[in-house]
Amino acid sequence: MDTKRIFVTRKLPEETLHLLRKTYTVEMWEEEETPCPRELLLEKASQASGLITMLSDKIDQELIKQSPHLQVVANLAVGHDNIDVEYAKGKNITVCNTPDVLTETTADLGFSLLMATARRIVEADTYVREDKWQNWGPFLMAGSDIHDKTLGIIGMGRIGSAVARRAKGFNMEILYHNRSQNEDLEQELGATFISDLKTLAERSDFVMCVVPLTPDTEGLLNSEFFSHMKSDGIFVNISRGTVVDEPALVEALESGQIKAAGLDVFASEPIRADHPLVKLDNVVLLPHIGSGSIETRERMAKLTAKNVACVLAGEEAITPL
Ligand code: DGY
Repeated sequence: MDTKRIFVTRKLPEETLHLLRKTYTVEMWEEEETPCPRELLLEKASQASGLITMLSDKIDQELIKQSPHLQVVANLAVGHDNIDVEYAKGKNITVCNTPDVLTETTADLGFSLLMATARRIVEADTYVREDKWQNWGPFLMAGSDIHDKTLGIIGMGRIGSAVARRAKGFNMEILYHNRSQNEDLEQELGATFISDLKTLAERSDFVMCVVPLTPDTEGLLNSEFFSHMKSDGIFVNISRGTVVDEPALVEALESGQIKAAGLDVFASEPIRADHPLVKLDNVVLLPHIGSGSIETRERMAKLTAKNVACVLAGEEAITPL
């Protein structure tokens, strides 16, 4: 038995960890929905060679400085804005995320959110449950069409491209904004590169934000952006809440500057019932479940465990950043 210790910050399926347990001492915070308290995380990290972390854990300089044995941090997410990656790398700590395994699942959720928002699915369900459905009417809960409309995708990486493939099936016109143009995708999907966000906002019926959170994208979608969207435009965010200026989004929704929004992510999570977005009927709100299918979460958990196993065995990680 190796003396190295691994700490897992949330309850994960036992079968994803059993290989690690054969060689190392693995401890796990046994709660599924309650995060590991910061003090405990700091204490466990200070003894650990490997950490399996969630997007809600802050792996910052304070933690890294107190964790002299740490060799690997494997984040159960493709996003890694919760980790000071550069600082960790400077300390020879390998940081890994879980790309690819969650691409299709997250695109499914993005498209579900788009459809639920456009066709007012949640509002209509509530209407029936609350016994408000007294008669049928031609425009009762009428929403917006999805097929044949224009979708503007901000961030045409793996997930953005998977969203675009779904949109193609709905015969949508696809516009995208990205750091670089992707001619292969343009050929495959007939997508059009739009270099400025203003034009993308003006031309799109739906805007989907899929861009990673970085210092460059923080606050990218602000009141100016929303002012250029169509008044019947719908905004969907499956990336990170702080890519959006949230008060500006609330204002755009309240004032009717845009029609509706579907949101899986928020500036500060979890949001509470008194959040201004919760008071609006024209939004669909989800608790950050982009990659949340059972199959994909299991794949992500296995990948984090494999990454930790590789690094602790002195091998290349599978998906290092
Ligand atoms: C990720 O992996 O970054 C997603 O936000 C999780 O749903």
